[in-house]
Amino acid sequence: MPASDRLGWPRLHARRLDSTNTLARALAGAGAPHGTLVTTDEQTSGRGRQGRSWSAPAGQALLCSWVLREPGRLVSLAAGVAVAHVCGASAQIKWPNDVLIDGRKVAGILAEGRPAERWVVLGIGLNVAVDLAQLPAELRERAGTLGLRPHDRETVLASLRTQLQHWLAAGEQEVLAAVAALDALRGRRVSWDSGHGTAAGLDPSGALLVRDDAGSVLALDAGEVHLTQGHLTT
Ligand code: BTN
Repeated sequence: MPASDRLGWPRLHARRLDSTNTLARALAGAGAPHGTLVTTDEQTSGRGRQGRSWSAPAGQALLCSWVLREPGRLVSLAAGVAVAHVCGASAQIKWPNDVLIDGRKVAGILAEGRPAERWVVLGIGLNVAVDLAQLPAELRERAGTLGLRPHDRETVLASLRTQLQHWLAAGEQEVLAAVAALDALRGRRVSWDSGHGTAAGLDPSGALLVRDDAGSVLALDAGEVHLTQGHLTT
């Protein structure tokens, strides 16, 4: 069976977990096979990128983590493309892999791995049916939702599996072209820890290219940089 066909098996679902990524990482470290999927209805300590937390009202978001063995180097970007395709024609990607609709974040992705052991856990939170009024005040203005019903989460999961099968197996050029076509930042002003400039696409490694005000082009690495665009931080 091709590796892409094993995505989602075995699957563990719990009503409540601290974090699907935390459990999936433990399973990966204990030898869980490629494709293992952890889902939950509610997280008590959902985690986001760069030490941030991730919150979603119980039962309203798709909360899932996938164990991937032998991941490609653009796995995190490929996941962003997959999620954006699930979210529909108006979805865009805010580098590296936030998925936005009308400028509001509907999904976030946290890839955590052990490069030496050749595995990564791909954690995805997707606001399928989130009532934005139930989110903490600081998230309410910038979060979005697909506006579906809670029981649609399983249909969305099936669609996500199909998209991940395609995009995780895609070549780097195909992934980079897809990100470029969905790029929410290109041509926009962005600030990072030590400067500001205009987003100018991605380099072949998936780093964000920015042109600073002196005209120099820099490549920013997703793991290192805190990026701000308007009021959104990534
Ligand atoms: C981000 O935008 O900062 C990434 C958010 C990732 C959230 C998902 S929800 C499922 C999985 N489990 C976690 O604890 N985090 C990821």
